[in-house]
Formats: sequence, structure tokens, C-alpha cells
Amino acid sequence: MLDLTRQYETIKDDVHAAIERVLTTQHFIGGPELEGFESESASYLGVKESVGCASGTDACWLALAAAGVGREACVITTPFSFFATVSSIVRCGATPILADIDPATLNLDPGATERALHRGRSFKLRVVMPVHLYGQCANMDRLARLAEQYDASLVEDAAQAFGAKWRDKKAGALGKAAAFSFYPTKNLSAYGDGGCVTTNDEELAAHVRRLRNHGSRHRYYHEEIGWNSRLDAMQAAVLRVKLKHIDDWNQVRRMRARRYQGLFINSGLVQGGEQLVSAQAPIALLATMPEAYHIYHQYVVRAFRRDELRTFLTQQGIGTEIYYPVPLHLQECFTYLAYRAGDLPESERASTEVLALPMFPELREDEQQRVVAAIAEFYGR
Ligand SMILES: Cc1ncc(COP(=O)(O)O)c(C=O)c1O
Repeated sequence: MLDLTRQYETIKDDVHAAIERVLTTQHFIGGPELEGFESESASYLGVKESVGCASGTDACWLALAAAGVGREACVITTPFSFFATVSSIVRCGATPILADIDPATLNLDPGATERALHRGRSFKLRVVMPVHLYGQCANMDRLARLAEQYDASLVEDAAQAFGAKWRDKKAGALGKAAAFSFYPTKNLSAYGDGGCVTTNDEELAAHVRRLRNHGSRHRYYHEEIGWNSRLDAMQAAVLRVKLKHIDDWNQVRRMRARRYQGLFINSGLVQGGEQLVSAQAPIALLATMPEAYHIYHQYVVRAFRRDELRTFLTQQGIGTEIYYPVPLHLQECFTYLAYRAGDLPESERASTEVLALPMFPELREDEQQRVVAAIAEFYGR
């Protein structure tokens, strides 16, 4: 599914030098490596501020909290995401309102978002939190228009989308604030946990800096209750090395995605543009919006008899993943939100059909051919 050793081999010397820099200075928390990463990532993303923190989960919470999300707020988001998207809303004390996804891209559907905004009109503060799923930005033109119309703000969950763009702007620069994750499987990854919040609002950034440091501006003086959520210097040093390669890596991911697309079309497993899978057309490819620069953090298809296919591929030594097998509105811990099976049908259907295939820049052509050939074999083609 993902072989990180191949990437490591190509950057080993620079990574070792960066870690040695930290060891030589013995400056592990804050300091020049963190500041360097924050200013370099901000400049790469085209935002005024990037604030490092301990994980993408914390970044979601910090971005929302600093955007003013608390008990009197509702946050509209997708149920077809990683758990942290919704848990961070709950952690702020706010009410999540879940809206269904567009079956073509699996991103938050603007029509459903509008209905959710209408439901949330009695809340004092409304936030829309799109997730740029698998590395493709949600429809930011329509979501920005809706945010304006309903007096809501946009906070991006860009955990899967470092370097992705909507038109000429990068993810992370498309709303009031954004959250990124540097979890080891992410397209820009640390050697452990890490994350950051980005924004063009200097006050909001200062608030995130306080919240990640126990709500404190000056040591031992606390204006509010924050958390310990810092990006340590070792991870920042590694991320600075990797940041230099991210454009190349993302570009290669796009080439790998195009190659999968070509292989699937030639295999006869897909029927162009169709989002329904069947015995005749057992694989459906997801759509890419023309405005989106998709960085393919994951390469995901819909598959007929998905679970059986996955077992077959595992037996062939081919790694796959399911992002996500249970949509968030049906998670046990969210039963109090009172959603029922059938409420968000596209998210529910996607959870039974999606399959993520091996995808990383160092993936070889013969390996991709093997993946598609094994899928064709499973369906008897
Ligand atoms: C969409 C999304 N949001 C939030 C997170 C949380 O990030 P982390 O695992 O770094 O806490 C992830 C990563 O797993 C994610 O994919």
C-alpha cells in the first residue's frame, strides 16, 4: 500500500543532517527549526501564517477553536472523513451538522451543505468545514458563495491535501483557517505525529499559538485553557527537508493516478463516467473537478463486491485500504446526534464501495500493472 523506505532512501543524507542539526543545538521545543518550517510552509502555501502543532487532529481543533467555535456554534461537515473531522467539532463544544457527499468526487456536496446551513440558521456562529478528501479540494467556489450567503466562515480540513489547489490557490489558503496533518502516511509526512494550522488572519494565528501552549502568552500566566500541542523541532527539521520535494512528489502522484486511469480504461472494467458499479462495470473511477489540482494523497476507486475483491488482493500480496468503512454519522459514539442509517445515503453507499489502491510517488509501473491485472483477474476479465 505504501513503502516509505523508498522515499527515505532518496533523502537520507539530508534527513540525517537535519536531525544532527537539532541534536547539536539540543533545542527540541520551538526554536529555529520550528520557525523555519512555519515560515517556509506559509510561503509555500501562500498564507501569512502557519503554526505547527502536535497532530492533524489537534490542528482541526485549534483551527476551529481559534475561529471562535464553541458551544453556540454549529459546524457543517461531511460524514465521509476521518474521525477527527467531527471529533474536533465536539471537542470545541459545538454541534456538528453532517451533510451528504457528491457521489462523483465524494467531497461535501454544496446542495446538501446549503440545506444544512438552513438547519443551522438559529446558531450564533456557523462554520462550514470541507474536507479535501484524498487530496482533491471540495467545490470551493460554491462553498464560498454559500458561506457568504449564510454568514458562515470556512475552515478547511486539509489534512490530506498539502499542495493541492483550487484554481490558482492552494488548500490551506481558501478559508478563514485550515488544518494539515503530517502523520507518516500523509503526502507531506513527519517521522511521527505532526500538524499545522494555516491562516491569513494574524490574530487567529496568535490565538492558535496560545492555545497550543496551554492558553498562555507568558509562561505560567494563562488567559484561557489551552493544550500542550507543539510540533517538536525534530519533526520540523524533517518536514523542512521534505517540503523541498513536495511539488515533485505531488506531480509524480498525479502521473501515477493517470497511469491507473489508463490501465483501468484499457482493462474494460469501467464504463466511462459511471458512478454505479455492477457485474458488467465492476470498477468506477472518481471524478476530478476541472478547477481542482488533485494531489492524489490516495487513489480510490469504487468496486463491486468490494470486500471480496479486497480479500483476493490481500491474498495476492497487494495492500489496499478502506477510507472509510463506517460514515461518521453512524459511529457508535455519535448516536446522540440522532442520525439513522439512510439519512446520508451517498456517504453510506461510498462506505461499502470505496477501495484505496497502492499510491506513493515511488510506486513502479510494473506494480501498478500488477494491481490492475489482479483486479481484472478477480472479475474474470
Ligand atoms: C481528513 C483528516 N482529518 C484529520 C486527520 C487527523 O490527522 P492526525 O492523524 O495527524 O491526527 C486526518 C488524518 O488521519 C485526516 O485524514
